Amino acid sequence: MSKKATLHLEGHDPVELPVISGQLGSDVIDIRRLYADTGLFTFDPGFTSTASCESKITFIDGDKGLLYYRGYPIEQLAEHSDYLEVCYLLVFGKLPNAEEKEQFELGVLRHNMVHEQLTWFFRGFRRDAHPMSMMVGVIGALAAFYQDSLDISNPDHRRIAEYRIIAKIPTLAAMCYRYSKGLPFNYPRNNLSYTANFMHMMFAKPTEEYVVNPVLERALDRIFILHADHEQNASTSTVRLAGSSGANPFACIAAGIACLWGPAHGGANEAVLKMLDEIGDVSHVEEFMRGVKEKRYRLMGFGHRVYKNMDPRAKIMKKTCDEVLKELGLQDDPKFKLAMALEKIALEDPYFVERKLYPNVDFYSGIVLSAIGIPVSMFTVVFALARSVGWISHWHEMIADPHQKIGRPRQLYTGEQRRDFVAVEDR
Ligand code: SDX
Repeated sequence: MSKKATLHLEGHDPVELPVISGQLGSDVIDIRRLYADTGLFTFDPGFTSTASCESKITFIDGDKGLLYYRGYPIEQLAEHSDYLEVCYLLVFGKLPNAEEKEQFELGVLRHNMVHEQLTWFFRGFRRDAHPMSMMVGVIGALAAFYQDSLDISNPDHRRIAEYRIIAKIPTLAAMCYRYSKGLPFNYPRNNLSYTANFMHMMFAKPTEEYVVNPVLERALDRIFILHADHEQNASTSTVRLAGSSGANPFACIAAGIACLWGPAHGGANEAVLKMLDEIGDVSHVEEFMRGVKEKRYRLMGFGHRVYKNMDPRAKIMKKTCDEVLKELGLQDDPKFKLAMALEKIALEDPYFVERKLYPNVDFYSGIVLSAIGIPVSMFTVVFALARSVGWISHWHEMIADPHQKIGRPRQLYTGEQRRDFVAVEDR
């Protein structure tokens, strides 16, 4: 028996709206006919109660702190899988067998170089340009190099775009870093793993052999897994909206990178480190928390639109942070100690408890990235690198949906009534 919701509106007959259940999570009220049948819109700025689409990729339960990629709990993937395998899972919807895994890894390797002319783009940027400004530019510019495969109605073109994004984004991310440091670009090395390759392209110097630390490689690969996808977050919704107009996948990913840059979203990991630097010492925490409660500033790395419990990724990130600091003999890292003191106070303070504000994925990630040697300015670039597979998976799911149409929200207009033009001499 299908479920219904009945809307009683003054001056209208009761309106029956279908209620649809998913595989997991909240039911939805299907309001697609609402405007046609009643002339009314719903009103939900920030989409706090709105499902924008149907998806099979990622499931989040904010109250229970659950996160599943294609049904697999994030804790199991972080423990037993690797980032490229998670890319296969997000793109194809299942874990690969040994043959599929090998073929996919070879396919990605085959696309990890960029056209040599792309290196010229960087010279247009000032040396001190923020790496995210370069990323937005060069990812969008990829469309200029693949005019032969931008027909999004062609499944083969869609598939190769997925490989190109997953394969080239680490190469371009490392180039942003190298350019900002005045260092020569490193080419990818196909004898290295995906993550070791990124570390090599970031840190290898022409003058000496670069040896990847396997503990740091594993930690960074896990950070990529934790950031790979997260349902309809702001940047993924941006990619879907851009893609709904038929824009090419590189332009859509560039739009996602632009949205992720904001401090309320992917820029939070950079903002956490700046916040820890500003607090400076545990003795200043009380004064800082007073400022947060007076809303003079926010506790960056805390709070989440969906998680009203601990972000499951934050728990794994904290464990990873501990492992990396131990490996590097930095257990007494003052920033980590300050972060743990902040977390302890926040988890016990009624202000945060009442608002269900818990550490999110960004609270500890910056400390780990710093310890690995990645500068603060590159934190959101690393987030964008990892999230690119989520963006491209959602883009593909949307474009492949035969019922897909351009996204075009309406509004509540509260501006001026109609009025006639007045000549400037009469104003
Ligand atoms: C990511 O959507 C995703 O999935 C994102 C992400 C992903 O993987 O894609 O998970 C990645 O973006 C994680 C979030 C990173 N951002 C930050 O850490 C920045 C700090 N956090 C906040 O700005 C905030 O918590 C948001 C933006 C994350 C969520 O904001 P909401 O859901 O819109 O909540 P809100 O702003 O309505 O706040 C509710 C209350 C308010 O207090 P009152 O007005 O009720 O008194 O909580 C307060 C807010 O002032 N509050 C905070 C706070 N976050 C919310 N107070 C202090 N510090 C904070 N961080």
